[in-house]
Amino acid sequence: MKKLESNLPFRPRRLRKNDSIRRLVAETHVTKDDLIYPLFVRDGKNLKSEIPSMPGVYHFSPDSILNEIEILLELGLDRTILFGIPNEKDEMGSDCISENGIIQRTAREIKARFPEMYLISDVCMCEYTIHGHCGIVIDNEVHNDTTLNYLQKQSISHVESGIDMVAPSGMMDGMISAIREGLDDAYLEDIPIMSYAAKYSSGFYGPFRDAVESKPEFGDRKQYQMDPSNSREALKEVDLDIAEGADIIMIKPAMAYLDIIRQVKDLSYLPIAAYNVSGEYSMVKAAAEKGWIDEAKVRDELLLCIKRAGADIIITYFAKDFIPQQ
Ligand code: PBG
Repeated sequence: MKKLESNLPFRPRRLRKNDSIRRLVAETHVTKDDLIYPLFVRDGKNLKSEIPSMPGVYHFSPDSILNEIEILLELGLDRTILFGIPNEKDEMGSDCISENGIIQRTAREIKARFPEMYLISDVCMCEYTIHGHCGIVIDNEVHNDTTLNYLQKQSISHVESGIDMVAPSGMMDGMISAIREGLDDAYLEDIPIMSYAAKYSSGFYGPFRDAVESKPEFGDRKQYQMDPSNSREALKEVDLDIAEGADIIMIKPAMAYLDIIRQVKDLSYLPIAAYNVSGEYSMVKAAAEKGWIDEAKVRDELLLCIKRAGADIIITYFAKDFIPQQ
C-alpha cells in the first residue's frame, strides 16, 4: 500500500466529509422556537403597506393584522413583539397609556380571535411622542424619573388589554423595578419583563425609525442609549436589570455586538435575547437585491452566529422567511 506522504496526527477534515457527518457534529441549531417576529401596527382599515426601507415588512392596521397572525400561527410562530404607531403623537405620548391606544386596541382584537398568540409589547415613548424621544422631555432633556411613571402606566395598560409580556426599551435608569412594582401592585405579578438591558446608541436602527416615524426631533439618544465602545458598562446594565427583577435580558443590536451577547451569557443564568435589528435586516435585503450576496445563506448564517454567540432568543424580521426552510 502506498504510504501517506505525511503522518498528520490530527485530521479535523474527517468530520466535514459530507452533509450527514457535518449535521451530526453541528453544535448549534436555530429553530422556530428561538424566534420572535416583530409586527408594526397603525391606524387604518385593511392596511398592508410595505415599509420602503424594510422590504417584506409591513404596516398593518388592527383589522388586517389578524390575517397576518393567522399566517404566523400556521407557520408555527406563536409569538410576536408589537410596535404601535399612533394616529396622533403629543408631548406626553398619551396614546401609549390610553385604553384606546393603538397597541391596546390591537391586543384586544388579536386576543379575541387568537388567544394562543403570545403577545409582547415594546414599552417606550418614542413612537408616541412628537419629539421622538424615549421619555418625557423637560427643559430639553429626557427626564428619567418622570418617564418611569409613564412606563409603569403603559405596561399596566398594555397588559390589561391582553399583552402577555412587556419589553421596556427606553434605557431609563430604574425602569425594570418601576415596571415590576407597577405590575405587582396591579396584581399582574405573573407578567414577565424582557428588558432591553444593553441597548446601544446605534446607526443600525435607521430603517426602524422610518417605520415608526420616531427620529428624534432634536439631539440624539446618546444620553440614555449606550456608547458602542463599551462592553463592561453593558455588564453593569445587565447586573442592575437582574437585580431589579428582569426575567429576560436583551442585547441590541445583535450582529455587531456578538461579544456582548457572549459576555452576558457567561455572566447570567437568565435567558438572553438578541435583537437582530432593522438595519441588519435591510442591509442583507439590499445586498441580495443587487445580487451581491445569497440572501437565504447570509440570513441563516447570521441567525446561527447570533445563537452560537449565546442568544437563547432572537428577535428578527427574518423569522417569517426562515421558518419555511425548517
Ligand atoms: C424603541 C425601539 C427602537 C427599536 C426597537 N425599540 C428604536 C430606537 O431605539 O431608536 C429598534 C428596532 C430596530 O431597529 O429594528 N422603542
